[in-house]
Amino acid sequence: MQTNLRGRDFIGDLDFSKEEVETVLDVAWDLKRKRALGESHAYLRDKVLAMLFFFTSTRTRGSFEAGMAQLGGHAAFIDSETTQISHGDTAKEIGEIFGRYFDGIAIRQCDWQFGNQYENEVAKASRVPILNMQCDIYHPFQCLADLMTIIEKKGRDLRRKKMVVSWAYAASYSKPISVPQSLILQMTRFGCDVVLAHPPEFKLMPEIVAQAEDNARKFGTGFEIVHDMDEAFKDADIVYPKSWGPLVTTTAKDEGKALIEKYRSWITDERRMALTKEDSIYMHCLPADRGLEVTDGVIDGPHSVVYDEAENRLHAQKAVMALTMR
Ligand code: CP
Repeated sequence: MQTNLRGRDFIGDLDFSKEEVETVLDVAWDLKRKRALGESHAYLRDKVLAMLFFFTSTRTRGSFEAGMAQLGGHAAFIDSETTQISHGDTAKEIGEIFGRYFDGIAIRQCDWQFGNQYENEVAKASRVPILNMQCDIYHPFQCLADLMTIIEKKGRDLRRKKMVVSWAYAASYSKPISVPQSLILQMTRFGCDVVLAHPPEFKLMPEIVAQAEDNARKFGTGFEIVHDMDEAFKDADIVYPKSWGPLVTTTAKDEGKALIEKYRSWITDERRMALTKEDSIYMHCLPADRGLEVTDGVIDGPHSVVYDEAENRLHAQKAVMALTMR
């Protein structure tokens, strides 16, 4: 167990070692048990977290805000549009100034080829931890909640469990690639044989794929990329199909939309779920495009764990805040 996380940033999934992630999970389960029993766990009394959002959110905002209150502190919701950022406040100024007001700064900035750089610039100037509520490259808190849920459903020993991280069709908008990237980075450290499935134009960042391949070698897990959703789903223990934009291929909106439209058949329906193991689980970070990414029958059906997964955002985030913001 590695408990020395005080003052640490959590921006990329690999910022915490495997042993440190295991500590986070142990603390998360302890906090989950305490909440279930109504036991006080005010480890962050008098502490305040800034939550700076450049994008909309349901789960992330709700779980960070509730989590800070349950830990005895407070979370300040700050919509970037109501700040002076558009009038000149730089990342350095946000880090310097908010670092003096707050005990932690959580940021959601998903702009492609900017968000992660922005969060790192804030981190460089800040004297308090920076927590990544999602950027263009990573969604590390989502991934911690996903890992926690997978262990709850499949046990601590995930060796030889086949996990499919798949692209899925959605019409709403070109979604960030941060969730699949975080998943292939973290899950290759935790025993799963990861299969990444996507149409050729929806590849992930080559450097992230290379890191996942390195992890697979180092931790003795599997990692492969396929371009066929049915092939990926066959005998899977865990499926995590979600939409993302073709950002590595093109950032042109019309071109991206045309590419997405080519693959309307990439839906998770009952036929596809029947290809997986009988006790497989269906995961999604939400929000999902119902009827396009996934049928109601699957997301509301017996394989789905999406609400337990959403709940675990609260416990995993509380664990990281309690460990880093003390
Ligand atoms: N999964 C997730 O991050 O949800 P929100 O976008 O609603 O925060």
